[in-house]
Amino acid sequence: MNIRKLISEMTLEEKASMCSGSDGWHTQGIDRLNIPAMRLSDGPHGLRKQKEGTDNLGIQESIPAVCFPAGCALAASFDRGILKKTGQALGEECQAENVGILLGPGVNIKRSPLCGRNFEYYSEDPFVSSELAAAYIEGVQEKNIGACIKHFFANNQETRRFSASSELDERTAREIYLAAFENAVKKAKPKAVMCAYNRINGIYAAENKKYLNDVLRDEWGFDGLVVSDWGAVNDRVPDLKAGTDLEMPPVSTRNDERIVEAVKTGKLDEQILDRAVERILNCVYEYEEKRDRQTVYNHEKDHETAKKAAAESMVLLKNNGVLPLNNRDKVAVIGEFALNPRFQGGGSSHINAFRVESFMECVCRDADVNDGVTYVQGFHTAGSENDLRVIKHVAEAARNADKVLVFAGLPESYESEGYDRENMRLPEEQNRLIREIAAVNENIIVVLHNGAPVEMPWIDSVSAVLETYLSGEAVGAAVKDVLYGKTNPCGRLPETFPVRLEDTPVYPDLTGEGDRVCYREGVFVGYRYYDTRKMKVLFPFGHGLSYTDYTYSNLRLSSEQFREGDKLIVSVDVTNVGDLSGKEVIQLYIKSPRSQAVRRPVHELKGFTKIFLRPGETKTAEFELDSRSFSWFCTERHEWFLESGEYEAEIAKSSQNVILRRTIRVLGRSYIPQRVDIHTPLGDILRIPGSVELLKKYGISVAQEECTVENENEEQILQAHYEYMPLRARVSEMNDRQIHELNQALCSLL
Ligand code: BGC
Repeated sequence: MNIRKLISEMTLEEKASMCSGSDGWHTQGIDRLNIPAMRLSDGPHGLRKQKEGTDNLGIQESIPAVCFPAGCALAASFDRGILKKTGQALGEECQAENVGILLGPGVNIKRSPLCGRNFEYYSEDPFVSSELAAAYIEGVQEKNIGACIKHFFANNQETRRFSASSELDERTAREIYLAAFENAVKKAKPKAVMCAYNRINGIYAAENKKYLNDVLRDEWGFDGLVVSDWGAVNDRVPDLKAGTDLEMPPVSTRNDERIVEAVKTGKLDEQILDRAVERILNCVYEYEEKRDRQTVYNHEKDHETAKKAAAESMVLLKNNGVLPLNNRDKVAVIGEFALNPRFQGGGSSHINAFRVESFMECVCRDADVNDGVTYVQGFHTAGSENDLRVIKHVAEAARNADKVLVFAGLPESYESEGYDRENMRLPEEQNRLIREIAAVNENIIVVLHNGAPVEMPWIDSVSAVLETYLSGEAVGAAVKDVLYGKTNPCGRLPETFPVRLEDTPVYPDLTGEGDRVCYREGVFVGYRYYDTRKMKVLFPFGHGLSYTDYTYSNLRLSSEQFREGDKLIVSVDVTNVGDLSGKEVIQLYIKSPRSQAVRRPVHELKGFTKIFLRPGETKTAEFELDSRSFSWFCTERHEWFLESGEYEAEIAKSSQNVILRRTIRVLGRSYIPQRVDIHTPLGDILRIPGSVELLKKYGISVAQEECTVENENEEQILQAHYEYMPLRARVSEMNDRQIHELNQALCSLL
């Protein structure tokens, strides 16, 4: 299809009408020109195809669909392959259901554990988020369906989400919040990006030219369509100019009229409108032309994919040897989640699940384990007070069992789109019941169902904890496989579990003051904060146990030096030294030296891979590092800055468990100020090689005054004095022209 020609045949009114949907879920079709409408649907962890005219809040029913593990769980797989397969299954479902764009993945950073939507997002770390998002997008788009990465960007809380302004500096934006999108956009080229509801430094995301047109499009090369989050358009014409092509859902035809008026009165360049229409039509026709009308999908097959993803996402947080269960164990199962599992979050991603499998249902189907298992409800999924009779009944069942499985978690109403959690606690009756059970049986295994970290005040009195997150509709089967050892647990935490809410970097300023949300912690998000402060956490980022053991050896670097533009290969041998096959997640962090210019986190994840190993088997894990792996974003220069120094490659099992390290000497740049003036400290200038001679030419002597020093300490004081002394102390006067010349001369030395 020649889209430009088609656009040239459209009237101004028709073009304006293309810039918003025809209803809540379709782009505008134009009969006169045979332009078809295309459907968009949520996403991200199942197809939520609703009838026309229904809500986008997940309240009204949609077609039955397989509910895959939510983002929080999928990310815990640390497995690009799992994300890709999930994407492929969803892509196929979209083809069969005539959906052209799937509204996912959601990659916003988990800035605080309380964000109501954390269950939908991947990680506190941008590298994990963007790598996994890229795999998911590749999977969806392999089926010729557009993926729509969301919500761009700094959309990290639900409180006041339509008006809040995320106030953050450029470095924090680039290194953390944009980085979650950047790599995925560059690598997987999603067909669409959804801009967020919130403002960024006062400017609505939908109206943010700097980030939509300048960064996303011009810098990163994104050539797809930008769609507004549902209702995120503030002022249609400026939003269009800033780069928001498609408004969803349409509010009224008034916005189309505004576009027409703006073109007619010269306030909007028609080319901008044409460009937006072109991007929308590119998506529509690409979908139409590659549409595979023969595609059928099979719920049962996708349910199996969801089950495998769930099993490989579960994180064994603690195990003192009580797991795996033995078929002969007498097991007491307590908690309604064993019967009615919590497997997804609330809001626009809510799936009308095809078939939910509970743990108890799977146990009942299995004659080998069935006899040994008894179930007591204990507490309700909705979270309500227990009376004494219930506690007595539970205690009795626990006393008579070898092992007790407590199915705990957050009630559905605790985690949803639209609002944030109030605290990090489980319902109090669950904590109380776990303590009561601990008094009568020491073999307690807590199976958690939650989309984000919870405090565990009982952690020392239980033997094992399995974090299932929100694992989708096959959760029960997957939990059973992990508990009974059919699946060797291999998930890892894509976020830190702090001991208590008060420890988190955003505390106490959780959701800002009014509409101003200041990201005061800067780049120190998640483990970047806890590890830099050497804090004790409940479970660190990257943590997860297995039923087997792995050892690491032979850490090698393809070179011990690194220069801008190089590629450096880090490899390490990993051996399964236990008796069971399993999958290990190998993590590579880069530890930075002290920077001359900025505060950097003690280390940052720059590589991860998951490998399968049979008992006794050794394999080599390999990672590629590039300039970005070592760089920080320089706000002053608006560029990534590779600072010279000794870095370390750390091979780790979690962010707080580094096993091997090797030094890499980076031959990059020294930080010097962008522009020197009379207030610049001498130390900053003298770092530039040749600067002493240059300053002399300008009659500026930087020699230290003769001064008798008695000891080392005095020498140090003197040196520091000169290091921080401003240029004006050495020069009586410098006019603007001289300053300009000096800057040029210094530049020539670099
Ligand atoms: C959500 C989006 C979702 C859209 C359509 C909005 O409320 O923020 O993530 O895709 O609704 O349902």
